Amino acid sequence: EDPRIHGIKTKIGVVPNFPKPGIMFQDITPLLLDPKAFKDAIDLFVERFKDNNISVVAGIEARGFIFGPPIALAIGAKFVPLRKPRKLPGEVIFEEYVLEYGSDCLEMHLGAVEPGERVLVVDDLIATGGTLCAAMNLLERVGAVVVECACLIELPELKGRGRLNGKPLYVLVEYQ
Ligand code: PRP
Ligand code: MG
Repeated sequence: EDPRIHGIKTKIGVVPNFPKPGIMFQDITPLLLDPKAFKDAIDLFVERFKDNNISVVAGIEARGFIFGPPIALAIGAKFVPLRKPRKLPGEVIFEEYVLEYGSDCLEMHLGAVEPGERVLVVDDLIATGGTLCAAMNLLERVGAVVVECACLIELPELKGRGRLNGKPLYVLVEYQ
């Protein structure tokens, strides 16, 4: 394991029973307060993805907007936000997905990604995988090639990886 991972792990807080009873919330805000650990996390993603001919980093609202843009800038890719409903002013394509309680939706501006473009999808965390799956579907519907997904944290117990149709997923930290 890369020696930088340990320092990153110590900066992720685990908060029991937030936002609902029974949920162990993974809090990434301590990492953001530590410029060294935050930079280590971004560097690890950049080292992994810099030579993959990726022209688009797609970040998922909200916490994918924290990690996606610095990766995009460092690898020379454009950043495309995948937003919650009714936030984007232009014409959008949308994808609904089911959550533990209720459903949600991601939207993307039409024309932001060209057919055939190679895309990296970034979020902070994969739990059930529903969010990343919806993001991949959106991108593939406009003809993009999703090269890989990247998250800071994976909760392997929830088997979200199994919902990505075999798409590679790169994570820095796993929580049991
Ligand atoms: C959290 C997290 C991921 C998603 C993972 O986002 O940031 O995006 O859940 O869950 P899944 O793998 O089960 O789909 P959330 O929608 O809670 O809100 P936020 O990012 O806007 O804070
Ligand atoms: Mg999120």
